Amino acid sequence: MKILVINGSPRSNGNNGKILSEFFRQGRLLNHELESINLSEKNISCCQACLECKARDIAQCSQNDDMNSLLTKIDKADALIIGSPIYMWHVNAQTKLFIDRLMPFLNSDYSSRLKSQKVINVYTQANSNSELYKKHLESMSEVYSFIGFKHVDNLYVSGELNTYDAWTQNGIESKVGELLAKL
Ligand SMILES: Cc1cc2nc3c(=O)[nH]c(=O)nc-3n(C[C@H](O)[C@H](O)[C@H](O)COP(=O)(O)O)c2cc1C
Repeated sequence: MKILVINGSPRSNGNNGKILSEFFRQGRLLNHELESINLSEKNISCCQACLECKARDIAQCSQNDDMNSLLTKIDKADALIIGSPIYMWHVNAQTKLFIDRLMPFLNSDYSSRLKSQKVINVYTQANSNSELYKKHLESMSEVYSFIGFKHVDNLYVSGELNTYDAWTQNGIESKVGELLAKL
């Protein structure tokens, strides 16, 4: 299975980066073909609402930035694992920007051009109450489904988890394994 591991955090080796590395490590053991992408290293502008993508035969954007190559990769992938830090109660801006730019996967009648690629979302937050933002983040699951992905599950990681030891104590490795098994 081709899996894109996408990090929306500006801290490539921060909390999301470390958890996504664990997905990468276990995914390789399962013989998946994985590629890591850090959104903050990409040049991705805001959607300009030109809607020219609706008139195209393929899912590409009129803007000549790094998003078109990402759209091609997503088109060819079987699954995406997308990590975002929580900023001000929601996904951070870089992740939302990326989601907005998935518009070319929708036809003019809002049917999808995707082949139901699977999506797992990872959300990390500082607040130890893992229920606090779920109502906002579960709406994001509906957004992925609307675009045409098959939303598989969310992994919520809360608290000041700054070391790999802390995550293993919290069972992150086994949670990652359980999620990969759902793909
Ligand atoms: C601008 C900003 C806003 C944040 N807002 C929240 C928040 O609303 N709730 C929360 O629990 N943590 C918040 N955090 C903490 C991050 O979500 C948390 O540290 C996250 O694990 C960082 O992930 P990263 O290391 O992959 O960047 C915020 C951090 C920043 C920098």
